[in-house]
Amino acid sequence: MLSYQHTYHAGNFADVLKHIILGDVLAGLQAKDKPLFILDAFASRGLYDLNAEEALKTHEFETGIAKVWPFRHERSPQGVHRWFNAITSHNPEGGFNLYPGSTALLHHMQRESDRLVACDLHPQEFDGLRSAFRSSRGFSLLKRDAFEAIKGLVPPKEKRGLIFIDPSYEIKDEYAQVAKVVSQAYRRFATGVYVIWYPLLPAERHLVLLKALKNSGIRKIMRVELDCKDGFPDLQMFGSGLLIINPPWHAQQAIKSSLDWVGNKLTEGKGEKHLSWLVPE
Ligand SMILES: C[S@@+](CC[C@H](N)C(=O)[O-])C[C@H]1O[C@@H](n2cnc3c(N)ncnc32)[C@H](O)[C@@H]1O
Repeated sequence: MLSYQHTYHAGNFADVLKHIILGDVLAGLQAKDKPLFILDAFASRGLYDLNAEEALKTHEFETGIAKVWPFRHERSPQGVHRWFNAITSHNPEGGFNLYPGSTALLHHMQRESDRLVACDLHPQEFDGLRSAFRSSRGFSLLKRDAFEAIKGLVPPKEKRGLIFIDPSYEIKDEYAQVAKVVSQAYRRFATGVYVIWYPLLPAERHLVLLKALKNSGIRKIMRVELDCKDGFPDLQMFGSGLLIINPPWHAQQAIKSSLDWVGNKLTEGKGEKHLSWLVPE
């Protein structure tokens, strides 16, 4: 059923924006000294070997991590700096061969009091998760349907939570399915912070997701988008975005600084950065 494997795409231009902004949101939540629940609903294998056959087949990491890596010692926004540190901690011998995906990044930032749950249904991806990480009381790996997990795990006992939704959108119906599950989860956990990633593709199916969430009654939805224009002509995807429901106040300036930095470095200033409220407070 599932054929998508993120290793082919790991570290590409969309991952760079996604992971830096995800880190900004989590850091904003961690500004308060209270336990957090973190759900990485579509985790994939968590940590990617960019020397693997799959990564070398597409070389997509050259559009992302390889492009910004030379700037790692320059002054950069805090979120970018944090992301470079996470990469460095996974590569003690230097370079970025082991690229931290969402689970590795969230685990890297997890505090003792936080609880992290990572799910993937793909057998190979789940095996990858299990060999990259050791689960513990505060860190569970689940071979579980993400849509079902999102509904089943909220509201969390911590009453504060970050739900990261990063599907492969293999099925075009998934955009509507994401809007539906988020609306259902929000009804039970309206104070949760939800981060939803989407690609910009010629068919513009992300508009279904945007429209459905706009009409859902959910307030305070931030839209962060980078349209790379014709920066990566070999790829169908020309940009990507994130919707952030209830972005922590502390994260909002950080997100803007990260988007500016990523947009300028990845597209040499030619891309179009977009930061607005899809739905205001
Ligand atoms: C885009 S990748 C995730 C990338 C990862 N979040 C990262 O940033 O490193 C999407 C993952 O979702 C998984 N997936 C797709 N549909 C799923 C479902 N219904 N339940 C659980 N996992 C699913 C796929 O196997 C794939 O590994």
